[in-house]
Amino acid sequence: MARKIIIDTDPGIDDAMALFYALDSPELDVVGLTTIFGNASTETCTLNALRLLEIAGRTDIPVAVGCDRPLAMPFQGGAAFVHGADGQGNVHLPLPQIKPISRHAAQFIIDTVMKAPGEVTLVAFAPLTNLAMALLLQPEIAHYIQEIVLMGGNAFVPGNATPTAEANIWNDPEAADIVFGADCPITMMGLDVTEKIYASSDVLDRIRTFDNPKAQHIARILEYYRMFYRERVGLNGIYIHDSTTITYLLAPALFKFVNYPVRVETVGYGRGKTWPALGRSENETAWQGRREIRIGIEVDAEKAIQLELERLAR
Ligand code: RIB
Ligand code: CA
Repeated sequence: MARKIIIDTDPGIDDAMALFYALDSPELDVVGLTTIFGNASTETCTLNALRLLEIAGRTDIPVAVGCDRPLAMPFQGGAAFVHGADGQGNVHLPLPQIKPISRHAAQFIIDTVMKAPGEVTLVAFAPLTNLAMALLLQPEIAHYIQEIVLMGGNAFVPGNATPTAEANIWNDPEAADIVFGADCPITMMGLDVTEKIYASSDVLDRIRTFDNPKAQHIARILEYYRMFYRERVGLNGIYIHDSTTITYLLAPALFKFVNYPVRVETVGYGRGKTWPALGRSENETAWQGRREIRIGIEVDAEKAIQLELERLAR
């Protein structure tokens, strides 16, 4: 039986790769997408989610629109310098034919989880506002969520949005702190592990040789993303962020984890930093009562990239 997942996403170039990777993996049953701001506005990310499902020929999958701003601050305006003003490398796709469903993303998450208790995994490629809203609206869903698998955070390494914070958490630290406190299994695929999966230029060039519409779209939008990495990060390749959640679902044995409770800093220069409590400091009161979450820290990067390319080539 394929594993039911809801993908919460802010497409986003690496979101598109990860979504197609999931759709090309029969082990997973994508039962819905929920959209959120982050790489672009929620409106733009929703249009992109609909466009991506059309490219993939999967217009059967419902798309529920999420919050248009973080819990405790205005929307910060997106990351056009990374993903393009359109969130898809400025390839300016035509408007999608399909429409989102009318239910809010948070309600869609609640309804889907409660319809199949213990059978639905929430996979977040983006800021955690929708997941936090669902947990605030109906806290008991935490006992029926199979697992939350999120790309976000940085436990033992610097941030990428700021020196202290990773982008998805930085975009809504208050929401992230609510999610990390949920009483359900949580797996954090943060920069500690995603910045260990480096896809070189040669690897990325192979995607253009895959003769299918999804891979061809990825090859097109990657041009912009690779330029960002060359000019701003100084790399002739990219880090694999969002897809790492999918690789974990398909092949968890490729990773090593540590398990700690996590709090998210919400003030000062450290806003958005994910802080694990290692159990050896004087006062860990603020972490008490929180589940330990699984934090990815090591990965067989070569095998992870090989698995993703093998699926995208299908
Ligand atoms: O830090 C990387 C994350 O921020 C990824 O999800 C990327 O899509 C951006 O949203
Ligand atoms: Ca993302």
